Amino acid sequence: MKRGVLVTGGAGYIGSHTAVELTEAGYEVIIVDNFSNSDRNSLEGIRKITGVEPKFVEADCCDKEAMRRVFEEYEFDSAIHFAAYKAVGESVAKPAKYYRNNLLSFINLLELMLEYGRKNILFSSSATVYGDAEVLPVTELTPRKPATSPYGNTKQMAEDILRDMVAANTGKLCGIALRYFNPIGAHPSALIGELPRGVPNNLVPYITQTAAGIRECLSIFGDDYNTPDGSCLRDYIDVVDLARAHVVAIGRLIEERNKQNYEVFNIGTGRPVSVFELVHGFESANNLKLNYNVAPRRAGDVTAVWADTTLANEELGWRAERELIDTLRSAWEWECNVRKQ
Ligand code: NAD
Ligand code: WQD
Repeated sequence: MKRGVLVTGGAGYIGSHTAVELTEAGYEVIIVDNFSNSDRNSLEGIRKITGVEPKFVEADCCDKEAMRRVFEEYEFDSAIHFAAYKAVGESVAKPAKYYRNNLLSFINLLELMLEYGRKNILFSSSATVYGDAEVLPVTELTPRKPATSPYGNTKQMAEDILRDMVAANTGKLCGIALRYFNPIGAHPSALIGELPRGVPNNLVPYITQTAAGIRECLSIFGDDYNTPDGSCLRDYIDVVDLARAHVVAIGRLIEERNKQNYEVFNIGTGRPVSVFELVHGFESANNLKLNYNVAPRRAGDVTAVWADTTLANEELGWRAERELIDTLRSAWEWECNVRKQ
């Protein structure tokens, strides 16, 4: 029988790509989502890509009784918790909304896992926990900086909740926090991808919407940083590579190859890329010109952050494989496709 994996937030951007990779690796995926930032098309995309109808429950992970029914009904010994709100700016304006959704959903899940004897949990953390790091690239031992937004704080707090609950339940709960850098791109089929609502906050969706004529002009936030071309440096990780990191990490927990009950891994490419490089890369990958200008720095942006991926490479046996040019092509193909759906 196939092993089940509960995927909360599995209709979303990273969750849908992970659902595809898990299914292709032979797992049975059970998705829980409330479509607060996604829609049913992603489930259809997963089905078309894999040929398998994902098991799906429409529920809010903050609703413990609804989640209890999922535990009663489905067989799984592992879960991946993607479900969260992720808009940094909105979290500053509406902190309670973020603390409630991101933390309550996670605590509910962890409590139910213990109650029902389900042992393995992966948590979606973020490079945001490193803040403005003094030494680059960041390793998992780089100290976390105080969060600069409620969103970032939910990631730090959820990491700590996981660490403490694992420590208090030896043998009953094992957890891995994956710290994603900047996920971009889409599945090569262009059947699933990122679906920002309203004006995108993130760079790549803003680029693709500008190329599509939905936005007039991309603003590059700052060209006076202390970097080779003056724009910020980030570690852009292809979403399919990122999804595969989850498959490997879940396998590590299921096969009990983890060295500690709670582990943390950076999931990035290890390569810093500037905003200008990304913009020009997008232009040449897709053979088009982008309308952009240089604007003032955006409040809260760090100058540079990229991953030391040694631990993920050596311990998980995972590394990012997709070339940036292919990733940027996939982002554009998705943008062209999504509006036809
Ligand atoms: P997304 O918004 O596309 O996906 C999140 C999904 O969770 C959505 O489908 C949404 O409808 C669902 N959801 C939210 N709250 C829910 C709830 N209470 N109950 C049920 N479903 C709920 O976001 P994403 O980019 O796929 O991010 C997935 C995870 O990765 C999030 O935890 C996010 O914080 C984290 N992360 C994302 C990035 C990034 O840049 N995209 C970077 C680092 C970490
Ligand atoms: C990347 C670079 C911008 C938009 C955010 C979250 C982080 C994580 C990933 C979840 C920066 C520049 C952007 C634009 C621009 N999410 N930019 N013009 O800020 O590195 O990280 O997403 O955990 O927590 O903070 O990503 O894509 O917003 O920006 O010039 O219109 O692009 O200044 O240098 P960021 P981003």
